[in-house]
Amino acid sequence: MSEPKILIVDDEEASRYGMARALKNYDITEAASVEAARQIAAKSRPDLILLDNNLPGASGMDYLQELSANEDAPPVVMITAHGSERTAIAAIKAGAYDYLAKPFEVDELRLVVKNALEASGLRRENERLRAELKAARGVGDLLGASDAMRRIYDLINKVAATDVTVLIRGESGTGKELVARAIHERSAHRRDGAFIAMNCAALPSELIESELFGHERGAFTGAAGQRKGKFESASGGTIFLDEIGDMSLNTQAKLLRVLEERKVERLGGSHSIPIDVRVISATNRDLAAAVAEEKFRADLYYRLRVVQIDLPALRDRREDISMLAENFLQTYAKRYQLKCSEIGAEAMKRLVAYDWPGNVRELRNAIERSAVLADGKTLRPDDLPEEIGSAQASLKSASTFQRSSQTGAGEAADVLSIPYLADFREARREFERAYIERVLAETGGNVTRAAERVGMHRQSLQQKLKDLGLTRRYVLNDEAQDSDDE
Ligand SMILES: Nc1ncnc2c1ncn2[C@@H]1O[C@H](COP(=O)(O)OP(=O)(O)OP(=O)(O)O)[C@@H](O)[C@H]1O
Ligand SMILES: [Mg+2]
Repeated sequence: MSEPKILIVDDEEASRYGMARALKNYDITEAASVEAARQIAAKSRPDLILLDNNLPGASGMDYLQELSANEDAPPVVMITAHGSERTAIAAIKAGAYDYLAKPFEVDELRLVVKNALEASGLRRENERLRAELKAARGVGDLLGASDAMRRIYDLINKVAATDVTVLIRGESGTGKELVARAIHERSAHRRDGAFIAMNCAALPSELIESELFGHERGAFTGAAGQRKGKFESASGGTIFLDEIGDMSLNTQAKLLRVLEERKVERLGGSHSIPIDVRVISATNRDLAAAVAEEKFRADLYYRLRVVQIDLPALRDRREDISMLAENFLQTYAKRYQLKCSEIGAEAMKRLVAYDWPGNVRELRNAIERSAVLADGKTLRPDDLPEEIGSAQASLKSASTFQRSSQTGAGEAADVLSIPYLADFREARREFERAYIERVLAETGGNVTRAAERVGMHRQSLQQKLKDLGLTRRYVLNDEAQDSDDE
């Protein structure tokens, strides 16, 4: 990565020289006037401008006002003459990030610069996310720019052009219903027809059947009038059978017949009605396993999954989290007129680190709640729901192994999916900790056997445990067990 760029605007050469020397770790350019500064800023987009107020020609304050009117402008630190507090206050009011009164200490300069650059970095990051967001708008209401989501958009576009029957699989909250709607909306020949959704888990069998197929008067006790079923209503459009895995075997048999014959018969009716619908079904269950257990009909399963769309869990496409979070925040900030309008870097790290068992729905709800309750403009870790706000912290203190075994995720993937940590050494420590804890969990906490397993000397492993702060948990435990073994 390149160094942050700082533009120093000051007409006194000695003063520019002094500042440039104090800030030699940055990429410095210098300008002796506002005119020169404008030209440089337009070309090189500095991350920060150090602006002297007393300049020949246009003053620093003039330039500051110009910059403040421009949303893309970098933050400005105003440099004022000794004893001119009023100018300093005016500069802050006009939008300067901070000010420095001459003469200032080198350390003071460095600190102000560091803080201003951090603020600028956050702003840039948010700009980047917003730009990414525009690019990441997928199909329909779906968002996400990960490869996994792009493959889903492709599939949606392909199946939309046809009438093929689609089965959508994915954990709760991964967007199955959004995908179904997107397919419907992209089907030129069906989008003017109805999209009718039916939750097959919510009702007892007879009711589901009467909902799906309709009934004639007196078909069963309580069937007062005649009723059109959802298959009929969806004619020309799409029927979405949600949670299909929960359907009873009896209803499955009837559904299969409808799909094969492309006709429905209302309950208690005597003639069949032709239907013209696309069928999309969804489930968060493992239907193949249900088939093996004879809880789901194999013939129906194959009929439903002519094309299968598998939606990835959010934790398997973490690269989409920041953009989704930002999008939800913007939505709710606007809807509720909230003060909170950006996600701080630390809070974002926790969001990315968290495992999201409830997937995108959980993320959306977490952002809504946090944004409504947050006090400041920037969302902080403390604003997040407890389990999320501590996502990173728990990773540091507790064992990744335990976290992963609770969520039931694949073990090998877990050690490698340590949420990104900016610092390499930190990431390596997290890896070592997760790795060693896993091996220790497998050996029941026995350090001697764990050392053998990973090809280390017992003493080295013990030293490692000490370094990683894991001694209290394992060493004592181990000594007792080792003496049993030996
Ligand atoms: N890819 C996505 N982009 C934007 N929002 C999404 C995405 N996936 C899910 N959501 C959000 O999550 C909510 C839940 O999605 P949806 O109802 O489609 O999930 P589902 O897979 O049907 O879940 P369930 O199995 O619990 O019914 C949506 O209303 C939407 O706000
Ligand atoms: Mg759903």
